[in-house]
Amino acid sequence: MKSQISQTAALGLLALLLLPFALYSVDFGQAGLRNDLDEPHYLRSTQWAANLAIFTHMVTGAVITLLIPFQLIGPLRRRAPGLHRWSGRLIAIAATITALGGLIYIPLRGTIGGWPMDLGFALYGLLTLGAALQTVRHAKAKRIAQHQAWALRFFWLAIGSWLYRVHYGLWYLATDGLWSNAEFTGAFDLAQNFAFYLPYLIAVELYLRRKR
Ligand code: HEM
Repeated sequence: MKSQISQTAALGLLALLLLPFALYSVDFGQAGLRNDLDEPHYLRSTQWAANLAIFTHMVTGAVITLLIPFQLIGPLRRRAPGLHRWSGRLIAIAATITALGGLIYIPLRGTIGGWPMDLGFALYGLLTLGAALQTVRHAKAKRIAQHQAWALRFFWLAIGSWLYRVHYGLWYLATDGLWSNAEFTGAFDLAQNFAFYLPYLIAVELYLRRKR
């Protein structure tokens, strides 16, 4: 009971911490979709498909970021299973659009950090897409243990984009941007192409193995 309360409080706090990034993302995305951005890196009127992909992904990405903590709150899940299912479906659809948006943008335009970032973000997109689909597939088949395992993997991927910004924020506070530059070619930047999701996924696998 005590651990349930602290878990709920931790997830509620996380939702609050995620909120500013979700709002930033939805604001960025909708301004881009309305062609109302002073942003030469993203907005290129000649590349409508890349624009549509990246700005839509920001809006749907915000939906995932906002909703994902609530899926893990046990008491909410038990009291309102219908809500859990419907918001789960919505998150899975949003995750599919988000991942595909990023995956379409990468070959069309390429990321700001060049091929290492293309690679890191493309792998992130594929893993996010796979985890979202597996979570829903196992839920539909009532394979609860597998559903929970995939949901946990998906959770860490879903907050990965926010973690990426948290890593940068903390690193810049601590080191003033050591091994990082505007072209994203510093040692820290290169590590971050994978460090915002891979270590967390490894930790999840170790946790699941111990639990089994
Ligand atoms: C999980 C929710 C996600 C949110 C809220 C989100 C949000 C954002 C935002 C706001 C940007 C603009 C960068 C900036 O802050 O200036 C961005 C860029 C980008 N995102 Fe996402 N994203 C998410 C997931 C993903 C996924 C799954 C992929 C996978 C392919 C992806 C690929 C990209 C790419 C390729 C860029 C452009 C990088 C660049 O060249 O600057 N994102 N995202």
